Amino acid sequence: MNKLKPADLVMPYFVISGKARREPIFTMPGICRLSIDNLVREVSGLKEKGIDKILLFGLPERKDPYASEAYAESGIVSQAVRAIKAKVRRLTVITDVCLCAYTEHGHCRILKSGVRSSAVPAGRQEFGVDKKGTLEALARIALSHARAGADIVAPSAVMDGQVGAIRKILDKNGFKKVKILAYSAKFASAFYGPFREALDSEPQFGDRRGYQLDPFDVKKALARVGREIREGADMVMVKPALAYLDVIYQVKQKYKFPLAAYNVSGEFAMMRDKKLILESLNAMRRAGADIIITYHAKEIAKAL
Ligand code: PBG
Repeated sequence: MNKLKPADLVMPYFVISGKARREPIFTMPGICRLSIDNLVREVSGLKEKGIDKILLFGLPERKDPYASEAYAESGIVSQAVRAIKAKVRRLTVITDVCLCAYTEHGHCRILKSGVRSSAVPAGRQEFGVDKKGTLEALARIALSHARAGADIVAPSAVMDGQVGAIRKILDKNGFKKVKILAYSAKFASAFYGPFREALDSEPQFGDRRGYQLDPFDVKKALARVGREIREGADMVMVKPALAYLDVIYQVKQKYKFPLAAYNVSGEFAMMRDKKLILESLNAMRRAGADIIITYHAKEIAKAL
């Protein structure tokens, strides 16, 4: 195993509209939502720290049932990618491809009309999912990000068929070189709490346990990884990381495929000490992660 270096880390960012905005996120000390001007300035300084990869999440101005701002040409993430690509060289830009921040109900899916109900019991996804509409929306988002200049798109909706649908639309439109980082083993987790505040994406009814993976069902997680590799993923992911080191290990052993671990918001928020952070990130590496997505990236890079 190679010890962790800054180039193995990916720094996530939350992008908002407007100018000169920098909004602290209460649940994630040190992390801010940034408007595009501030984001460009911020990422320009990453290279000198040895970090050359970022992951972008966007907060739309308006949410609707179709997540339309997610794939609009003027969507916040696409605007951010264009601005970064115009100013910053040799930075790999990864974009999160999902619907939850863009739908009014906060789910990672397009729902069939008429079945929205606050009476849905927690954990039961009894409302109708528009499967075809969801896959189409995810593919359109990925294409819009590719058109803006994204190097890698990262579908995180845990929707069956999402990687295949995205690969197909990218290839058809001349984006064979754009890669796919698939959130293949994404577990239903309490560690996402701070992120949902950051992105204002807490589901308005029900929860995501209907589609995110059961933490005890590693077999299913491994199967999903295999399926998304066959559908054309260039790299797969295990998320969260710290409480799922065994899964990282198993995925790496079984598939010997490029692997990312997502050190998520809840893990970030509970760890303030540099030595603890380094030991934990190195554990993810030792378990088998090739790259680690972490909000600590910028701060911890100099300690590596
Ligand atoms: C959903 C998404 C989530 C994260 C990234 N993309 C989680 C969720 O709310 O289901 C979590 C990241 C984090 O907690 O840092 N598309």
